[in-house]
Amino acid sequence: MIQKTAPLRAVFYFYTMDNSPIGVFDSGVGGLSLLQEIKALLPNEDFVYIADNAYSPYGAMTSSQILDRSKLLTKWLIAQSCKIIVVACNTATTNAISILREENNLSFVGIEPAIKPAALQTKTSVVGVLATKGTLSSSLFHETSNAYGQGITIVEKEGKHLVQMIEQGKINDRELRLLLHSYTKPMIDQGADHLVLGCTHYPFLTPVLKEILPDHVKIVDCSKAVAQQVERILKKKALLRPKGFDGETTYYCTGESNTMQSFVGHGNAIKKVSILG
Ligand code: DGL
Repeated sequence: MIQKTAPLRAVFYFYTMDNSPIGVFDSGVGGLSLLQEIKALLPNEDFVYIADNAYSPYGAMTSSQILDRSKLLTKWLIAQSCKIIVVACNTATTNAISILREENNLSFVGIEPAIKPAALQTKTSVVGVLATKGTLSSSLFHETSNAYGQGITIVEKEGKHLVQMIEQGKINDRELRLLLHSYTKPMIDQGADHLVLGCTHYPFLTPVLKEILPDHVKIVDCSKAVAQQVERILKKKALLRPKGFDGETTYYCTGESNTMQSFVGHGNAIKKVSILG
């Protein structure tokens, strides 16, 4: 029997799954808003982030196209030895996560519009949801709305063009501000006191939204809760990396990297990969 001396234990440890990275994917820079929350909670973990921006936006794709891309990215992240996969995209979560879970022997954490907390907290019984067409038309979104939206008016709005503009780095453009105003006005007019951000790109618009929305409207973003769920699952599966490491993130994209570079900072390299079916 091998006696685990301290150096042997260190070698053994190095190769165990808990040192493997957490895989995170989105159609573009949106998932970085969720990644930053997970990194804040789990600073000693390594991450592999992939932005599938050659195929962005997912919101305009059919459900089966979204599923195909999600399967390919999952396969690629598993090949990078990821111990868990975070689907940092509402559109991919609502259209693909149940099948990804069925087909892979690995834990997945997704993100979907936070209707439940908004429905529990609203005083006007009116909640606005801003999301992509792909999310709003998914059956998972309808199931969640029906389950938690009883007695609540949910005013849904597709954030048409928002993802493309964010991907082009146009966060502070007047055109984007005007679009946001036109998307949120019907919600406010109907009395919404909560606005659910149903796309991981939208938290980057929070400063603009705060200027546009009346003060009493609460912006609901569930990234922190999703980060806590990642921690809970890793803990339960004994896959949390022990303390004492400085976590590193490796960034990849499938398309051009200019906007992503400005989001992750110029000190971080972004590698380009081609992920084809
Ligand atoms: N960040 C994705 C989401 O959360 C954007 C989808 C898209 O590419 O349209 O839905």
